[in-house]
Amino acid sequence: MQESLFSGLLAGGLRPMSQLSRTGVSLEDDLLQKFDRLIGKRGYKNRSEAIRDLIREALLAETVDSNKPVVGTLTLVYDHHMPNLGEKLTALQHSAGAMILATTHVHLDHNYCLEVVIMKGRSKELQAIADHMLALRGVELGKLVLTNSGKGLKGVDPHTHSHTHSH
Ligand code: NI
Repeated sequence: MQESLFSGLLAGGLRPMSQLSRTGVSLEDDLLQKFDRLIGKRGYKNRSEAIRDLIREALLAETVDSNKPVVGTLTLVYDHHMPNLGEKLTALQHSAGAMILATTHVHLDHNYCLEVVIMKGRSKELQAIADHMLALRGVELGKLVLTNSGKGLKGVDPHTHSHTHSH
C-alpha cells in the first residue's frame, strides 16, 4: 500500500486507483537464483519491480496479439540514392493518414537516411504499414516496436492526475 502511494507521488502526483496486493510465488531455488542474477544485471533494485515489468510485458503481448490500439515506432535505415524511395515512403505515410503521428528524419551520411515513424492504431494496422515500408527496395534495415498507448497502465485514468499539461 505504502509503496504504491509513494511511487505514484514520485511519478508526478498520479493518484493510485488500484490497491496494492501482495502475492507469494513458489519457485525452484535454481530458477530464483537465475532470475536474481538476471535482474541484478539489468539494474533492478528488487524483485517486485522486475516481476511487475514481466507482467506488463505479458499484458502488452496480449494487447498486440488481440489487435487492440497501441502506439508504435518504426525505425528505418534506407538508401538515399534509391530512385523514388523517399517519395514512396512519404506516399505510404500519407495513405495511413491519422495513424502517423510524427516522423523524424536524419541524414546519416552521404548514402543513408534514418527515419523514425511514430504511429498510433490497432496493432495489425501498424504492422501492415511497417511491412509495406520495410519491403520497399532500398530500405536496408528496420524494426517496428509496438507498445502500450498508456491507457490502463498502472490503473490510472489519464485525466485524473494532478499535474498540469497541455492537452
Ligand atoms: Ni536523408
